[in-house]
Amino acid sequence: MNDYLGSSYLIWGVFPYVALTLFFVVPFIRMVYRPFGMSTRASGIFLGRDILGLATHLLHWGIFLVFFGHLAGLIGGILGWGAWVGAFFWMATLGGLAAITGSIIALARRIQVPEMRAMSQPDDYIVHGFIIAILGIAIYQALVHKIWGVSFTAAPWFASLWRFSPQPELMASAPLLTKLHVLLAFAFAAYFPFTKLIHAWTLPVNYLVRPYQVLRTAAKKFQNGWVMGCWEFKGVTDKSYMSYLAIGVLVVLGLIGLTLPGPSMDGLVQEAQATTMTAARSDAARSRPVLDGYPLYVSQCARCHGLEGQGDGPGAKSPTFAAVPRDLTAGHFQFISTSNGVASDADLRHVVVNGLEGSGMPSFSRLSERQVDSLIETVNFLWKGRPAPGERIQVPPRPATTAAMIAQGKQEYANQCTVCHGANGAGDGVLTKLRTDAAGHVIPPRNLRTEPLKGGSSPTQLYYRIAAGMPRAKDEWLMPHYANLGPERIWAIIAYLEQDILPPGQVANR
Ligand code: HEC
Ligand code: HEC
Repeated sequence: MNDYLGSSYLIWGVFPYVALTLFFVVPFIRMVYRPFGMSTRASGIFLGRDILGLATHLLHWGIFLVFFGHLAGLIGGILGWGAWVGAFFWMATLGGLAAITGSIIALARRIQVPEMRAMSQPDDYIVHGFIIAILGIAIYQALVHKIWGVSFTAAPWFASLWRFSPQPELMASAPLLTKLHVLLAFAFAAYFPFTKLIHAWTLPVNYLVRPYQVLRTAAKKFQNGWVMGCWEFKGVTDKSYMSYLAIGVLVVLGLIGLTLPGPSMDGLVQEAQATTMTAARSDAARSRPVLDGYPLYVSQCARCHGLEGQGDGPGAKSPTFAAVPRDLTAGHFQFISTSNGVASDADLRHVVVNGLEGSGMPSFSRLSERQVDSLIETVNFLWKGRPAPGERIQVPPRPATTAAMIAQGKQEYANQCTVCHGANGAGDGVLTKLRTDAAGHVIPPRNLRTEPLKGGSSPTQLYYRIAAGMPRAKDEWLMPHYANLGPERIWAIIAYLEQDILPPGQVANR
């Protein structure tokens, strides 16, 4: 929940402010006290100038592309514009590849050329370390993991910083590598003004106005005893462009964060439905502006399930997923507890809060109860022609396990389950290849010995899986339902699974 002292709040709600403050404020302080320090230390005078030229071009143009790519991703992510998020992907990947190449060449030259090595200071290496790590993680994620569209998730979180109402819960379900990428980038931003990279704030405009004026700044400083920045804002020296650039970036990011509206459902569902939904939401009293409903869906779900819920988000084909993201409009949900194969709100809620272990569907346990409710509402709107869910299957208390029960369970398993899951539960029964989900993807029976229980490992969830089965379409089953066996035999099967098939300790005692 939204605990204001929790580590996730410190990391996603406080740390970015510290980093951004350092990033924007330290350059001004340095400018006032040490104006001559605001440049790179020249290093082109040594061997390998051509190489350096190439590296510098790659690095600088790469960073430009990366920066503007991120700007596109920020705007597209907030507004729910898929094309802009796509542009972000290409610009950032190409720019990132160029920049990382430049950085690696420059670093190699620094290490290889003795004169360069002698002149290098720790920050020269640390800076390259940051650049290579930050870009490396993102490129690996984009090209190998194919985790695309994360800006739908990160942009609204970043915008919440500019609204001074940080929503750390939005980042909670982002992939680990994305979190690392973002945190490293903020750490780099905090460190940035203490390094030679501070010259970035004097670029590019001061190339047009050659900088002899630096002397004048210093002179004025002594003449007038000026207060920080007052001459600078009159545009007297080239360093003033630094102020303009810094303020410009702040204003642009601030405007984006403060003014852009969230995505809307118009056109996705019938208008009447959309209005009731919005009305219901604005009625709820709120202590702070928190993303919910369809905008929250776009931020948390669209990168996999798509903006319209068809399971075709930009990151849907990631090879890290064990199954493709479900087409929410068709509503063939598998992890259910009802008697007629139709997921209830409680079933959807269980999946959203807990995720599906090992499948790619993350857990959203940090969202507030109201936010989850609004997501379930959104899924119900996207789900076309939703049938009424049946009664929830009753789960009687679990009896204590006995040897006789395990033997009975073994017999039941051999009769009912071996065809698909195999005699030892390794997923190697005779019906291995026959099962496809509603979209036609082959879904092999689970290897119960090694693979996680996606739907949850509590005895109650296991009971639901066996009693309710796993539907693939209307009245069709990926795994049949066994409610007709009755509680005694179902508990016996669970006792046997726990004893002989599932990894030890897999069944949680909840
Ligand atoms: C990183 C990708 C990803 C994100 C983000 C994601 N999902 Fe999923 N989701 C999946 C995958 C993959 C599956 C299919 C899992 C399987 O069948 O093994 C899935 C399955 C589902 C299911 C089907 C459950 C069932 O019983 O069959 C629902 C409902 C669902 N997701 C809703 C959501 C909602 C709501 C969100 C946003 C809060 C969300 N998902 C975010 C990847 C994702
Ligand atoms: C017709 C084939 C078939 C039969 C018969 C069958 N299953 Fe399954 N079972 C499957 C498939 C396919 C999956 C995987 C579904 C998926 O990955 O989405 C599965 C998944 C499971 C899971 C994993 C649930 C989770 O949360 O991930 C359990 C547990 C399970 N089966 C137990 C059983 C038991 C016990 C029986 C006998 C009573 C049985 N199955 C009979 C096909 C079958």
